[in-house]
Amino acid sequence: MADLSTTYLGLKLKNPLVASASPLSKQLETARQLDQAGVSAIVMYSLFEEQIIQDSLKLHRDLERGSYVYAEALGQLPDYGMYSIGPETYLDHLRRVKQSVSVPVIGSLNGVSAGGWVEYARKIEDAGADALELNLYDLATDVELTSTELEERHIEVVEQIRKGITIPLAVKLSPFYTALPNFARRLVEAGADGLALFNRFYQPDFDLETLEVVPNLVLTNSDELRLPLRWIAILYGRVKADYALTSGVHTAEDLLKALMAGASVTMVASELLKNGTGRVPQILADLQTWLDEHEYESVRQMKGSMSQQAVADPGMFERANYMKVLSSY
Ligand SMILES: Cc1cc2nc3c(=O)[nH]c(=O)nc-3n(C[C@H](O)[C@H](O)[C@H](O)COP(=O)(O)O)c2cc1C
Repeated sequence: MADLSTTYLGLKLKNPLVASASPLSKQLETARQLDQAGVSAIVMYSLFEEQIIQDSLKLHRDLERGSYVYAEALGQLPDYGMYSIGPETYLDHLRRVKQSVSVPVIGSLNGVSAGGWVEYARKIEDAGADALELNLYDLATDVELTSTELEERHIEVVEQIRKGITIPLAVKLSPFYTALPNFARRLVEAGADGLALFNRFYQPDFDLETLEVVPNLVLTNSDELRLPLRWIAILYGRVKADYALTSGVHTAEDLLKALMAGASVTMVASELLKNGTGRVPQILADLQTWLDEHEYESVRQMKGSMSQQAVADPGMFERANYMKVLSSY
């Protein structure tokens, strides 16, 4: 039987299927189900910079002006569902999840600017997280902001967080950086041990009748695998980090492709939200069967086997492939 174990961020994991940040970590019961189903680690849903800042602003107003103002301010806060809970509640929940499951738990912070809120990285470590994932979700909408400034801002957050914690740090980022390999390299130099590719951007729709902007959270399908697959294949071996592929992993075949590109783990959310945690043992069984049938001894053996590590100029390679694919139609 092929060995499914892998290493991610220095954590020894029993297999490469990790539960991605999602509402499944919000309830103890579903976190336990993920554990029992066989995921090798659980990434918690995110604690947002805005939640932390709002919380400290509330406390400040309360101290300054009396608790009635606090109550008023609270009433004005928009309701972000689970993302409107205070940071202390998040930490308590993380502590309980950690006590309830047998696999490593990765905390998740979501923020983009350096500042006092990054202290929560240390608090997440103190609450028992085995590693931390920093989600850099930042849409550059300011016409004055250059790509260099945006990247510098993100690097500064990573440096600040790295200084505050001793546990491993992964950065989850979007595909929309102009020169991704250079930025990835600088993230690693700033202290990231791993890179989780990619964040999905929320893309709201227009309702033509009501003329409203409507939230539109569509779960992924396997087609979305190709973007992170290509980038991990390009980065693997060039930027020395552990890679997690997130976006579009639904089957054992998707997982195998991710490993061949160079991922140490895949992070899965949509498939489990849509079809339940029962998909975990099915995907792992399919993975085991495929590896055994193809006479692989371990997942480690195939890691990066389809990466572009041996390609001298990936840019030229990509252009050549682009021309090839257009003429194949
Ligand atoms: C309902 C929902 C909530 C999510 N919440 C978070 C979150 O709190 N933090 C985060 O980094 N990613 C979050 N994600 C993104 C997932 O972790 C994952 O990266 C993304 O859905 C792509 O993986 P998939 O194709 O397996 O769904 C969320 C996704 C969904 C569908």
